[in-house]
Amino acid sequence: MVSPAIALAFLPLVLTLIIRYRHYFVLFYRAVLVRIWKDCATGLSREERVYQYVLTHSTPGDPDSILEAFDFWCSKVEYISNIGPKKGKILDRLLMEQSPLTVLELGSHCGYSTIRIARALPLGARLYSIEMDQRNAAIAEKIIRLAGFDDDTVELIVKPSDEVIPQMRSNYGLERLDFVFMDHWKKCYLPDLQLLEECGLLGKGSMILADNVLFPGAPKFLRYLRKCGLYEWKIHRATLEYSRGIRDGMAELVYQGIK
Ligand SMILES: C[S@@+](CC[C@H](N)C(=O)[O-])C[C@H]1O[C@@H](n2cnc3c(N)ncnc32)[C@H](O)[C@@H]1O
Repeated sequence: MVSPAIALAFLPLVLTLIIRYRHYFVLFYRAVLVRIWKDCATGLSREERVYQYVLTHSTPGDPDSILEAFDFWCSKVEYISNIGPKKGKILDRLLMEQSPLTVLELGSHCGYSTIRIARALPLGARLYSIEMDQRNAAIAEKIIRLAGFDDDTVELIVKPSDEVIPQMRSNYGLERLDFVFMDHWKKCYLPDLQLLEECGLLGKGSMILADNVLFPGAPKFLRYLRKCGLYEWKIHRATLEYSRGIRDGMAELVYQGIK
């Protein structure tokens, strides 16, 4: 048994740790514990649950109504790590400014950001969205088609990013990517950025937008940006999707070519 005196001595440390890491506790509760409980209670995955809701609360062929249904569910009912409406507006604005013709998305999950990107693209543009999880991809495919985007506008590729990027020239006939949205596992940001460079898929002016670089964070990726001299870049400060207190940011990079 721990004596009360020892417990008291450690109390300040425990309280400090709880305060310091409270965001992780909240997120763990919302994203993991609630999810496990609901999975058992409904017999559906959270992706299937959000899909059921979107299907019954949106208008087919209307991407705006699909995004609204997602946002309602994710802010009021169950947390899902879509980019969300606030950071989504930054993505929308950059896409409008750039008018990219070839876009790559890394991490489709349920297809929220995929339809957000697709609805902002100019006529004739093509979006390649990569998702390695088969079950997430099955939901994303249904959401993308529900929003009215066909295979010519949005192609969903169900493979890990490090397998697809080296094949983009040979299998998809791509010379250059105008815009890349990174929102997959944060540890993949740096290797995938370097893979894009090595494969010659970035040209002068290609834009890369990387989500969650402050929370959960991508420190190696940011360290590389500071050192490599290949990009003009900045961070758009924001809060984590569907939450108020957790500070986050998106990195906007513009490739300058080799200096
Ligand atoms: C944060 S979610 C993406 C959310 C989505 N971009 C949105 O805003 O709606 C991350 C997704 O990336 C996928 N993922 C993670 N690492 C990946 C990789 N290396 N290749 C492809 N997909 C990956 C995961 O399976 C997960 O579905």
